[in-house]
Amino acid sequence: MINIALVGLPGTGKSTLGRKLSIRLNFKFLDSDCVIEKRIGCSIRSFFELEGEDAFRDVEQQVISQLSSCDGPFVLSTGGGAVLRLPNRSSLKQHACVFYLHGLPEDIYGRVRHDATRPLLQVADPMDSLRDLYAVRDPLYREVAHHTIEIARQSTSEVLLAILTKVQRDDFLS
Ligand code: S3P
Repeated sequence: MINIALVGLPGTGKSTLGRKLSIRLNFKFLDSDCVIEKRIGCSIRSFFELEGEDAFRDVEQQVISQLSSCDGPFVLSTGGGAVLRLPNRSSLKQHACVFYLHGLPEDIYGRVRHDATRPLLQVADPMDSLRDLYAVRDPLYREVAHHTIEIARQSTSEVLLAILTKVQRDDFLS
């Protein structure tokens, strides 16, 4: 059984694309941040403020582990920091074909600069934060991914098509 997981920096379109992809493939749609928010009973931003990032990563790890081993086929959209912990990278890689939605900080900045929901970008210079996140995470996204898809200057439908083409080329659906 073939599952799909999407990883990438905040603002690369993981949730939007994941939902559309699941509809096109008739797969179940799972969004780890939505499941986390249900579990913690508040927004991720509030949880970061009240409990800190490590506590968030602990919940995220439980959720990624549960979701990646649930019955498929599914499309799983992950939070941008899900790749930080090795057990998450291992679960994702083991249970799904992982797509890295790659965008440079410059490509993503316009999508996230006014977004108040992302705790790590609530800083004076979000571009600077994006550059730091990119430097740390790009190698981790590449490590976990089976495929890397460029999002720069591509519409949502173009990115969707690029993923679907790879999915079909890998003969997922036969
Ligand atoms: C995070 C990204 C968020 C969310 C949390 C932490 C991160 O998800 O999981 O705020 O560490 O980059 P998105 O990638 O959907 O913004």
